[in-house]
Amino acid sequence: MTDYPGGLPAGYRLVTFDQLNSTNEEACRQARAGAPAGTVIVAARQTAGRGRRGRVWQSPAGNLYFSVLLRPSWPLAHAPQLSFLAALAMGEAIIQAAPGAAQGLRYKWPNDILLGGAKLCGILLESASLGQAPDWMIIGVGLNIASHPVDTPYPATALAAIGTAPAPRALLGEFLHRLDAWLSRWKTAGFGPVRTAWLARAAGLGEPITVRLEGRELAGVMRGLDENGALLLDAEDGARHLVSAGDVFFPRKG
Ligand code: BTN
Repeated sequence: MTDYPGGLPAGYRLVTFDQLNSTNEEACRQARAGAPAGTVIVAARQTAGRGRRGRVWQSPAGNLYFSVLLRPSWPLAHAPQLSFLAALAMGEAIIQAAPGAAQGLRYKWPNDILLGGAKLCGILLESASLGQAPDWMIIGVGLNIASHPVDTPYPATALAAIGTAPAPRALLGEFLHRLDAWLSRWKTAGFGPVRTAWLARAAGLGEPITVRLEGRELAGVMRGLDENGALLLDAEDGARHLVSAGDVFFPRKG
């Protein structure tokens, strides 16, 4: 248990692998086979790590790759809010393990974590629903600790870039405690506290951004989040837009 100084929160169980194609894929497989909520799939490396919008998540050894299986009781419409809880939990775990990251850590809508303006961590939610509530939901997290890819359409970084390399397992243990705490708070107090905490470290708030949607782009000023986590954007034509899916780009500085 030396990896997890405080142990894991009650109800979580780790299943570890040296190598997997994708921890999300394995978590989906286990979910379909009836694995309980709180199952956490961890791999030291992935051969087919997946990112949002069908992108590849490069996954060499030295970084953290895991997927948490939940069996939600909340409505399907609230499911996207989970990515904000996950980002907050990971942001807090990173700052706890690597205090030097505190100054430059920002949340990028909808579910990235940036360090010094470059991508440090990505989150991929996957779910399957049979009715009003998701049957299961998977939160997949990739955190660059030792290395980061160089051939990405956006700048990427790793914790090693600020001279720190916390143990992946210690970060995972801390993340699960923080996630558990945020889930409890969210269930009793709703999305408000999550939104406030996320906006306190939001990248691009009040600044010009571009959002790439299916087949078009919207440029404007990022104004915040609505009560469900959709992005509020005041477009150049003066219209206010609510964006629920897309990729955000920041103008190059200098
Ligand atoms: C993104 O595109 O930003 C999301 C990346 C999510 C990557 C993680 S790594 C662990 C888990 N397993 C996967 O195949 N993907 C997620």
